[in-house]
Amino acid sequence: MPYKIRTLSGYLHEYQKSVLDPEEFWARIAESFHWKKSWDKVVEWNFSEPNIKWFVNARLNITENIFERNLFTLGDRPAIIWEPNDPEETNRILTYRQLFEKVCGFANTLKNLGVKKGDRVIIYMPMVPETAIAMLACARIGAVHSVVFAGFSAQSLADRIIDCEAGIILTSDGNFRGSKIIDTKSVVDKALEQCSSVNTVVVLKRTNTEVNMQEGRDIWWHDAIKGVSTENIAEEMDAEEMLFILYTSGSTGKPKGVVHSSGGYMVYTYYTFMNVFQYNQGDVFWCTADVGWITGHSYIVYGPLLAGATTLMFEGVPTYPDPGRFWAIVDKYKINQFYTAPTAIRALMAFGNEPVEPYSLESLRVIGTVGEPINEEAWHWYHDFIGKNNCPIVDTWWQTETGGILISPIAGVTPTKPAYATLPLPGIQLAILDDDGNELRGKSVEGNLCIKYPWPGIIRTLYGDHERCRQTYFDKFKGYYFTGDGVRRDEEGYYRIMGRVDDVINVSGHRFGTAEIESAINEHPRVVESAVVGYPHKIKGQGIYAFAICDLSGQSSEILKNEIKQTVNKVIGPIAKPDKIQIVSGLPKTRSGKIMRRILRKVAEGDGTDFGDTSTLLNPEVVEEIIKGKE
Ligand code: PRX
Repeated sequence: MPYKIRTLSGYLHEYQKSVLDPEEFWARIAESFHWKKSWDKVVEWNFSEPNIKWFVNARLNITENIFERNLFTLGDRPAIIWEPNDPEETNRILTYRQLFEKVCGFANTLKNLGVKKGDRVIIYMPMVPETAIAMLACARIGAVHSVVFAGFSAQSLADRIIDCEAGIILTSDGNFRGSKIIDTKSVVDKALEQCSSVNTVVVLKRTNTEVNMQEGRDIWWHDAIKGVSTENIAEEMDAEEMLFILYTSGSTGKPKGVVHSSGGYMVYTYYTFMNVFQYNQGDVFWCTADVGWITGHSYIVYGPLLAGATTLMFEGVPTYPDPGRFWAIVDKYKINQFYTAPTAIRALMAFGNEPVEPYSLESLRVIGTVGEPINEEAWHWYHDFIGKNNCPIVDTWWQTETGGILISPIAGVTPTKPAYATLPLPGIQLAILDDDGNELRGKSVEGNLCIKYPWPGIIRTLYGDHERCRQTYFDKFKGYYFTGDGVRRDEEGYYRIMGRVDDVINVSGHRFGTAEIESAINEHPRVVESAVVGYPHKIKGQGIYAFAICDLSGQSSEILKNEIKQTVNKVIGPIAKPDKIQIVSGLPKTRSGKIMRRILRKVAEGDGTDFGDTSTLLNPEVVEEIIKGKE
């Protein structure tokens, strides 16, 4: 493979080439795919509208590049190994040939159910092979999948269905999560009370939970696929046609439907997968994310399968039935590359070394992290104890919007440094800008992380709202894609991500807009106004600290706080529940009525001494009160 980087000088050389002639660079990588028609131009772009097109007028189907391109050589190789929640249950292994058959069968099933090219399909399912099959079946027929993490509430699900006007939902009777069973289908039923666009619900039997099947709308998965042909000719797609929509949070209330297109995303996820993790044929790769997030899309499903890799899919949680589960799985399947989130590492680290000791972990070659900054203590535990001082850590920085990894060591090639994502991958032209938009050149600088040239996996638009896409990512710094993250470049030119610079908080690697959580809190009838900030949390990275002005009359504050948590649970889902709620009589505001979050952040962080300039506050007296009542 000519584009597989093996040495540091090789990396520097490739990087150089990718900047000097990006079109030639990406064309060379794209050529290893099967295109039904080649491109007229590699890239056409401007960041002002924005208008970004990769592989202009090329035609392809991404699933042909997973299956038909690889079957001859890889047909009998395991594509997906599935490890169930309960270790006593039998696992499943699907070879490329078997997966192909199932994808074609389900593609035909979707067609039989009336799904056409361009239609949006919501996938609200557990971590089972059928979820990947559903995604690939959509891609096969040119339908647009939108996977919604199955921990989201009925309200969040409904918001997403309504936004993308989906006509069909794929779901399950229930979802195993550790010792719990989640009643998935009833969440769907509740969501659908508000969504008139949906006329079909396909229900996979997973937990044998009793469900209510609505006549004429709901159909069992096993009935829907019965007798359906497994021969399917892939739909030919323009490289820029939509592959999927994935919702993510921004600094304003409403989640945004990030749109990725098929040609560029295919090239980018494949390239980054092969290089960052240094995957070799025959290795077993495990990414512990849920497919409801971009990490699962790019590095459980598309990247690995495009590379003909064996990808492990785990249904459960790291602590069930005990906190050694991850390591038991690593040994059971001889995992070579293991990719997880810092929050999982910190949570497992808290159990001490004992749960790890029974396992050899000797198959591991590369260990990775994603989703949030990794603190040095966790980095060292991971490196020394899990990686036995022998596996490079790839601290991969990227976003839902970037489609794939942008800044990361290349395993075994780039020297690592604790808490640093290190260097940009080839094709990624970073820029650090100060708040006035001046590019900070040289080393030892800190500022806003921006990117000045497109890469094939970049977001194309926000579904149904191109203007919001422009405003969110391309407006603040003209001519650049703005990531929303702060970054430091050190004296060696290495990059360290400093966290979000906008009103987004990152809780256990999950992104939430503070406004989104505030609006959920405000749905409680006794809440008058609220403000949410992040604070450092030992396991989650950031915790959610809510300040709320409430009508307490006749109500105990403890009960009310619990009710508020339940309200957030209901509106967004359990992952967004505030860790701390402080009931206050007022929020510090400027004379123009803006909440001074800087002060609230300081209080939440426990730094109650230096509040900077508070002379512009309308109500300085509340600061004192808030400090006294700190949770
Ligand atoms: O703040 C950065 C953080 O996660 C954000 C993106 O979140 P999301 O779109 O949900 O995607 C997460 C998985 C790709 C980024 O803006 N982030 C992601 N990776 C890292 C990170 N922060 C520090 N280090 C990382 N490696």
